[in-house]
Amino acid sequence: MGSSNHGTTVDSFLSNQSAKVFVAGHRGLVGSAIVRKLQQLGFTNLLLRTHAELDLTRQTDVDAFFAAEKPQFVILAAAKVGGIHANKTYPADFIAINLQIQTNVIDSSYRHGVKKLLFLGSSCIYPKFAPQPITEEALLTGPLEPTNEWYAVAKIAGIKMCQGYRLQHGFDAISGMPTNLYGPYDNFHPENSHVLPALIRRFHEAKVSGAKEVVVWGTGSPLREFLHVDDLADGVVFLMDKYSGLVHVNVGSGKEVTIKELAELVKEVVGFEGELVWDTSKPDGTPRKLMDSSKLAELGWVPKIALKEGLVDTYKWYLENVKQ
Ligand SMILES: NC(=O)c1ccc[n+]([C@@H]2O[C@H](COP(=O)([O-])OP(=O)(O)OC[C@H]3O[C@@H](n4cnc5c(N)ncnc54)[C@H](OP(=O)(O)O)[C@@H]3O)[C@@H](O)[C@H]2O)c1
Repeated sequence: MGSSNHGTTVDSFLSNQSAKVFVAGHRGLVGSAIVRKLQQLGFTNLLLRTHAELDLTRQTDVDAFFAAEKPQFVILAAAKVGGIHANKTYPADFIAINLQIQTNVIDSSYRHGVKKLLFLGSSCIYPKFAPQPITEEALLTGPLEPTNEWYAVAKIAGIKMCQGYRLQHGFDAISGMPTNLYGPYDNFHPENSHVLPALIRRFHEAKVSGAKEVVVWGTGSPLREFLHVDDLADGVVFLMDKYSGLVHVNVGSGKEVTIKELAELVKEVVGFEGELVWDTSKPDGTPRKLMDSSKLAELGWVPKIALKEGLVDTYKWYLENVKQ
């Protein structure tokens, strides 16, 4: 076994390029980046199933899949995700589907002899008023942001499942908590996307239509952290290779930008030459949200993609892939 008392593994995931690795959710923003990364690294035996081929909420099907395929490693990037509006409208789905997916995958992984599993959560697991930057220790120290607490409670249960299976069964299950992500395969939906892809779409459409201005909500003063999804994939592989501990690990860029700086950068990358106007009558949201990723840095991983470089790459993908 590769575990040591110091939370690092001796056996290397990276020395197992022929190992069978199940990436759950491989067509999503995160899962697709993980697949690209593993392929770049020479992994030849990736096990992939679309939602239509294997519905991970169906316990019997998931168990039969694990019994037949016997993956050696599992990266769990399948989840029901969405913004504030979706969370508000479908709270039952957000808690039930996520609990089902993660319970089925974690339990079947343990029972069918998976060597190691990584579960992905999100920064919304932390209390609304957690001290900034948010450390791993802030988990369960206060009330959650009410708008997405059903999703957050499911993700917290996922972390606790990994811990419970490690403590009771010695199963090498770890959890990574990414900050806000962006990159290829993001959701650029006009009403239902996160701030960064929404800005790309709006500036692009304004450029194409020759609009004079783009109006953005709020004052632009809130501080946010963004990580390119290819950096996240690199961090996930690093954790699979090097980390084997009870505590979940934050995965962030450690770099804060104001929404104003972000909008100006997107405007520049897209090449929109009109005005950027702030509608200060609209709400700003939380003033600051930054994760403390020093635990991961101490383990030896740092992100590599600067925000501007990542935006250029994402806009290129948008132009090539999103229906104009
Ligand atoms: N995006 C972010 O900024 C961000 C930030 C922090 C953490 N994360 C975490 O990263 C993980 C992945 O997020 P993402 O942004 O990559 O989401 P995503 O783009 O929506 O991808 C999720 C994937 O899961 C699949 N899936 C959902 N329900 C399924 C089911 N019942 N059976 C099988 N597959 C199913 C989806 O397939 P279908 O589309 O076909 O349903 C999709 O391919 C989540 O745990 C999320 O919390 C994301």
